Amino acid sequence: MDGLARLEYRGYDSAGVAVLGDGALRTEKRAGKLANLRQALEEQPISGDGAGIGHTRWATHGAPNDVNAHPHVDNDNRVAVVHNGIIENFAALRLELEEQGCKFASETDTEVAAHLLRTELARHDGLASAMRAVCRRLEGAFTLVATSVDDPGLVVAARRNSPLVVGRGEGENFLASDVAAFIAHTREAVELGQDQVVELRADSVTVTDYDGDPVDVREYHVDWDASAAEKGGYDYFMLKEIVEQPRAVADTLLGRVSVDGQLTLDEMRLSPEELRSVEKIVIIACGTSYHAGLIAKYAIEHWCRIPCEVEVASEFRYRDPILDQQTLVIAISQSGESMDTLMAVRYAREQRARVLAICNVNGSTIPRESDGVLYTHAGPEVGVAATKTFLTQLAACYLVGLYLAQVRGQKFGDEINAVIAQLATMPDQVERVLDTVEPVRELARSLADADTVLFLGRHVGYPVAMEGALKLKELAYMHAEAFAAGELKHGPIALIEDGLPVVVVVPSPRGRSVLHDKIVSNIQEVRARGARTIVIAEEGDESVRPYADVLIQIPAVPTLLQPIVSTIPTQVFACELALAKGNDVDQPRNLAKSVTVE
Ligand code: M6R
Repeated sequence: MDGLARLEYRGYDSAGVAVLGDGALRTEKRAGKLANLRQALEEQPISGDGAGIGHTRWATHGAPNDVNAHPHVDNDNRVAVVHNGIIENFAALRLELEEQGCKFASETDTEVAAHLLRTELARHDGLASAMRAVCRRLEGAFTLVATSVDDPGLVVAARRNSPLVVGRGEGENFLASDVAAFIAHTREAVELGQDQVVELRADSVTVTDYDGDPVDVREYHVDWDASAAEKGGYDYFMLKEIVEQPRAVADTLLGRVSVDGQLTLDEMRLSPEELRSVEKIVIIACGTSYHAGLIAKYAIEHWCRIPCEVEVASEFRYRDPILDQQTLVIAISQSGESMDTLMAVRYAREQRARVLAICNVNGSTIPRESDGVLYTHAGPEVGVAATKTFLTQLAACYLVGLYLAQVRGQKFGDEINAVIAQLATMPDQVERVLDTVEPVRELARSLADADTVLFLGRHVGYPVAMEGALKLKELAYMHAEAFAAGELKHGPIALIEDGLPVVVVVPSPRGRSVLHDKIVSNIQEVRARGARTIVIAEEGDESVRPYADVLIQIPAVPTLLQPIVSTIPTQVFACELALAKGNDVDQPRNLAKSVTVE
């Protein structure tokens, strides 16, 4: 149950467990959060001395109710299965199984796996062999974990396009979608590859492919411990993760410069020759990671003069993008498991583009399937809303931009070092913003009844505005939308009405002054039409003060790096407003932390 609690952020609409013992299989499942299952088990405990499996669900097929919750069992109650992903050919398989006499209890795609496993068990020697046979029949994405009364000390799991990791302990072993589930027991993990089956006993771990042939696996040590995945005295993980941002950014920047002053990205795996041949960059990502990509474009094009496109991963492969060996695709994903991004990565590699992943989770699928990787070091992020991982993605993107400029000779060493020195001050600047955000909390509480909040930005402030709007939608369930401030007069200004809160992210007046002046005009335009202006601007920028109903000041930093500080008030704003509405900011409705289905 504690392991499930650590995984609850991945899905929290229902949960269940199955345990084996005394020749029987006992299951308990409940709709709603894990607390409901916990209570049910307290009232009516189930026990067993064999293996156990459990699941927290994010519904795809079938409503989130008790019956559709996992585990699912076969008609003889001998096999139990939990599943992440989508079995795309489940309708045909269900029909076939029903014709053979199977009775289905749920509306899920998962249940076909339970019945199929039971059928294959009758034909094969053992659960692992049956699992391989089942996997060969399934289409789509799945991690399946199964137990059977025939072998109570065994858990068998298989994966295709969905995460699964093994934890190796002393006389005990674990399986989970994420190391967080077993980090309290062991930090030694084994990465499972695509289309592999693992047989797990207390004292052994055997991995094969779907044909039963043994495969090599990568073992690794997890560099954070259980306390990193605890709330540490905060009411919500999100509050803790916002506060952890200075450390997260500092850790991501740590150790990137060699003794001779060269930027070195050790895990990069792409050679300087390969990077010198790059003619175009395409960044693919989803949600918050996409916003990091939008910001990266400004920095990369400015520093490296390489054309850079940014695209939502779910759209990318459906538009026949032009890619070749000279294209560098940068896939940004904190989890490394977003299915949309993973599919885009695979597509890009099929087109012979080189793929560099920016990722926060060691051993996850996207970096494993990419040509190179740059890990962010944010530590585990449990709150569904991305906060510290976003800031670390920005830091990583800046490092990639500078590294490209270095290997391609587009900037002198001292110019690169100057930016690195500026980057190195960012953790302190983030700390300063965090020290001054109390008024943002008050403001957020005062706006708890607002219906809509608009966000405006220009240049790198535009993606920051988009990120602010996403946070508000995701956490406070309210309408929020971001516009490039220059687009206002092309339509959106019609939305402005008396008292409408409009958050404006103002570029530094020390950057391109024309940009700054233009946004000051935009602020006046919306204010003249009744908007309540909430202005995020650099300390010392007095020109915006007369037009700001609320002024939020952030430290003066170089223009391209400003998103690292300007994002923080928008995170705090969304979090506090959602809390004022009584929402659970760690587990907002309808969402899951990593979206492992398309
Ligand atoms: O794990 P990823 O970075 O690939 O996730 C992408 C999005 O699902 C994610 O950023 C999502 O938008 C966040 N919940 C937003 O806070």
